[in-house]
Amino acid sequence: MSADRSTAAPGEPGSPPRRGALGRGHGRGKSAVAVIGTGYVGLTTGAYLAHLGHRVVCADVVAEKVERLSRGEIPIFETGLEELVREGIAGRRLSFVVGAASAVADAEFVFLCVPTPQGEDGSADLSYIEAAATEIAPHLQPETVVVNKSTVPVGSSRVVERAIGRDDVFVVSNPEFLREGSAVHDCLHPDRIVIGSDDQAAAIRVASLFESLEAPLIVTDPASAEAIKYASNAFLATKVSFVNAVANLCEAVGADVREVVLGMGYDRRIGFEFLKPGPGWGGSCFGKDTRALIRLAEDGGYDFSLLRGVVAVNEQQYERVVAKVERLAGGSLTGVPVGAWGLAFKARTDDTRDSPALAVIRRLEERGALVRAYDPAATGDLTDITRVEDPYAACEGATVLVVLTEWDEFRWLDLDKVRDAMAKPRIVDARNLLDPAAVRRKGFTYEGVGRQ
Ligand code: UDX
Repeated sequence: MSADRSTAAPGEPGSPPRRGALGRGHGRGKSAVAVIGTGYVGLTTGAYLAHLGHRVVCADVVAEKVERLSRGEIPIFETGLEELVREGIAGRRLSFVVGAASAVADAEFVFLCVPTPQGEDGSADLSYIEAAATEIAPHLQPETVVVNKSTVPVGSSRVVERAIGRDDVFVVSNPEFLREGSAVHDCLHPDRIVIGSDDQAAAIRVASLFESLEAPLIVTDPASAEAIKYASNAFLATKVSFVNAVANLCEAVGADVREVVLGMGYDRRIGFEFLKPGPGWGGSCFGKDTRALIRLAEDGGYDFSLLRGVVAVNEQQYERVVAKVERLAGGSLTGVPVGAWGLAFKARTDDTRDSPALAVIRRLEERGALVRAYDPAATGDLTDITRVEDPYAACEGATVLVVLTEWDEFRWLDLDKVRDAMAKPRIVDARNLLDPAAVRRKGFTYEGVGRQ
């Protein structure tokens, strides 16, 4: 790992390390790690740290989940994760236990990977993280580094420090940037590693865990580390809202958003990434983190109106998809059968949390449409959705088909079969997944996003 840039770190002039020695876990190669919480971030973190050679114990409160994980059975849909977990178990570097207290007893590092859901006022709910910190506090060895990976508001390191209430233990922030669907890849090939600590020695000990990864290392103060995570997610959400707004402009002026993005992307300051228009952004992070950042700014006396605009554009985007379906249906959705392809918030994940696909489907239903949806992987509470097991079954008798998630398999379906199944051959492609010319040749009326 190369230390490309180390910002005004705790050890810089005026801020000497609290303790001189690097302490346990530094320079010895492999370390004893506990991970609290086996959700997306926790399970992936545990598995890849074991893959890097560390001895990892993962704790969860649900006994049945721990049992299944101990057998190498993964509750989430994530490419390569099951293999990594099984490799760790077989190599005796990865194990699972019930309860945080037993996991931390011998640990040099404890990673807190518990959820920080959105509270009622938009701010992040820290109750899980405080509870976990309080629970582990009496069981920690002196010199242990507690690493916070959960996304927490700026300043939360202090909350964890207070909950632990010990001055012989360090609290370090190490935000996670993994994407669902490519979590294992993102962990093993990170764009950067961010470590926030008031104690440089503790920061270096955490950095040593990731020694074998080639990535720029940013060592900074805890508040800046926490702000980096929020600002990154908010910026990515801004990019998507921006390109969605540009797509809407293209529709108004007869331009093609794909050409516009191509022309923009060659400017290295802009790039091509994260500029695909669609039905809006979603998932477990973007909505929660953008709203938490707006709230955090508000609490600090700053009106982050730019970000409020980003959220507003996103909600309008759902509405625009609904309006297209309504238009193709002839002006009213009452009693209109609509086929929907996609429920997950993006392809290559089964996650439907804050899914734009669900937001669109629920709005269509509110207007009286009868939606039948197909998704190859989606899980979650979908009891209010009529779900079918086959993409063609979703088209059966439909007046309009709407493509909501960019699953690859939707590109290659038999359009003749789709047309024959539908009452009227009309497609709203909210992901620009299909080839408009090919679809129109088959006799469909087609509407994409930001293109003719
Ligand atoms: C995101 C961040 O990318 C990751 O770094 C962070 O740690 C967690 O949040 P994830 O929630 O897995 O990851 O989803 P991501 O791949 O970022 O996509 C978010 C949403 O934006 C999806 O709904 C996706 O469909 C949408 N999106 C993304 C677009 O509509 N267009 C794009 O060009 C990119």
